[in-house]
Amino acid sequence: MQYSQKVLDHFMKPHNVGKMEVFDSSATEGSPACGDQVTIYLKVNDETHIIEDIKFQSYGCASNIATASIITDLAKGRTIAEAKNITWKEAAEALDGLPPVKMHCSVLAVDTLREAIKDYELKHHLIEKEKFSKDTILAELKKVIYPKVGEDIVTLKMVKYIGFENGTAIIDVDIPKFDKYRDNVGEEIREHLEKFKEITDIKITM
Ligand code: FES
Repeated sequence: MQYSQKVLDHFMKPHNVGKMEVFDSSATEGSPACGDQVTIYLKVNDETHIIEDIKFQSYGCASNIATASIITDLAKGRTIAEAKNITWKEAAEALDGLPPVKMHCSVLAVDTLREAIKDYELKHHLIEKEKFSKDTILAELKKVIYPKVGEDIVTLKMVKYIGFENGTAIIDVDIPKFDKYRDNVGEEIREHLEKFKEITDIKITM
């Protein structure tokens, strides 16, 4: 697998790495695709909402460490509103690219940063807890990467239908029978949705 020099640099010498003892908010997220984990800690200025300090701990692959490193560089000094808009594509681009099968690693880093920001906003009553809806399912499906091209299945228009009835999530995905990533995509959708207590059953048709 070909990694850019930037990925290698951030992997060998990650920035902002370590546990923060005193912090304003934090989040730990795991990737359903591989089981790896990242924790992000934030120190935020209560008046300006600027992220003054940020640290991460990673229990994962080289891309996981490199994307967590670059994402903390990108977020430091920005307001939480700005940092929330950092995308996984931006993180991958800042690393001069990632192999398509490794794009989910950048999704994990960005997702963890967003969750840490959400934790801060909830604690400071800047937002209210979101109500579960079909949009919640859609947002999760945007995190499922089709490994062949390194793009999410919603952007690729592979998701044909999303339904939610009486606790059952119904997802229809357009993916050829002979596609070697078919099972991975199905499994990842399932793992992304299983964490919601509102979902008691998942029906995926392909
Ligand atoms: Fe697990 Fe990269 S393979 S985050």
